Amino acid sequence: MENPFSLEPYTSKDRFCDREQELGDVLSFLTNGSNVTLISPRRYGKTGLIFRTFEDLKEKHYICIYADIFSAQNLDDLIKILSEAIVCSMSSESLVKKFFAALKNARPLLSYDPISGSPQVSLSFQQEGERPKTLKSLFDFLEKQGKKIVFAIDEFQQVREFKETNVEALLRTYIQQLHHVKFIFCGSKKHLMTDMFVNAKSPFYESSRTVHIDRIVPEKYGPFIKDLFKKYGKSIDNESVDFIMDWTKRHTYYTQYVCNRVFAECSQKIVLDDVKVVVTRIIRNEIANFIERRNLVTEKQWLFLVAVAKEGAVRQPTANAFLMKYRIGNSATAKKIFAALVEKELLLEQSDLEGKCYSVYNVFMSRWMETL
Ligand SMILES: Nc1ncnc2c1ncn2[C@@H]1O[C@H](COP(=O)(O)OP(=O)(O)OP(=O)(O)O)[C@@H](O)[C@H]1O
Ligand SMILES: [Mg+2]
Repeated sequence: MENPFSLEPYTSKDRFCDREQELGDVLSFLTNGSNVTLISPRRYGKTGLIFRTFEDLKEKHYICIYADIFSAQNLDDLIKILSEAIVCSMSSESLVKKFFAALKNARPLLSYDPISGSPQVSLSFQQEGERPKTLKSLFDFLEKQGKKIVFAIDEFQQVREFKETNVEALLRTYIQQLHHVKFIFCGSKKHLMTDMFVNAKSPFYESSRTVHIDRIVPEKYGPFIKDLFKKYGKSIDNESVDFIMDWTKRHTYYTQYVCNRVFAECSQKIVLDDVKVVVTRIIRNEIANFIERRNLVTEKQWLFLVAVAKEGAVRQPTANAFLMKYRIGNSATAKKIFAALVEKELLLEQSDLEGKCYSVYNVFMSRWMETL
């Protein structure tokens, strides 16, 4: 039987849990003329939600374009990735030709990746300074299609890493002029994303409506997991489902991963002991990777991570009680350590009404560290 707990960002509606509120907000903003900024920690389900949104938009005859700019280092890369995404969304070769003709000065060439079959666009610029014009003509082309278009740019914070400093402002200027093309800007580096859209000095300030993605609530997630097992021929008891949600802290990717393995490895009728065997095996298989990470941090940083894991979540990592309990040093040292760990994405920093809260980003690693 096929495993319904896929590790792809999105497969289908019936295998996608909840997100009704977020979906409704995103759709309403986009179809009423706003751009949307989607923010959440890594692996909560941003990309999944984009594709879920696309499904509904396509029914409303929107053209949907998805570009992941994680690997882009500069404006050249950005134009290339956006162009490839546009080509992917096109239904005919004559349209691709028109699009290429519109990319002034960039001499676009199309080829196909021999393995994945996905389109690859190569561009060559004759003079410095032509790139902004090409970027503009790319957006202008979309605007002139006479269609409603939604363009999702995933890992958008990456534009802050470009060597050119003005790309953010350029994008803002061009995007502002579009009426038929709306954007989803998506990212997981909360500090950067917030700064880009909430800081009055940033070009994108208040240009888009922000939707935050949080954990899926247990009242929705529990029944979803149970039903999906049942639909695909296996039964799992409530105790096991609660254990999975608790052990993975409802961090979507980890929950999905455990469900995937439990479905794959357990027999027809699943009980708590079966699930415990599976999670033990998952951790055992990951230990080599965790130890690899240890080489990326100092000894003190490692101690600190283990301490946070043992606590589960820490609200005041510089408080004396915490520092003394784990012999971490003074609060000035601790401050530096956790700032470095947040920067390395080993610690997850989250804010709520009570203030900030820190936890080990990788849930499996956190569960392993608890046992050290
Ligand atoms: N609503 C959902 N229901 C069930 N599974 C989900 C849901 N959303 C996401 N997932 C699962 O969680 C995992 C992570 O999702 P996704 O890749 O969309 O997260 P992301 O926030 O884009 O992550 P990243 O920051 O790494 O890009 C995937 O395996 C996906 O199947
Ligand atoms: Mg993603």
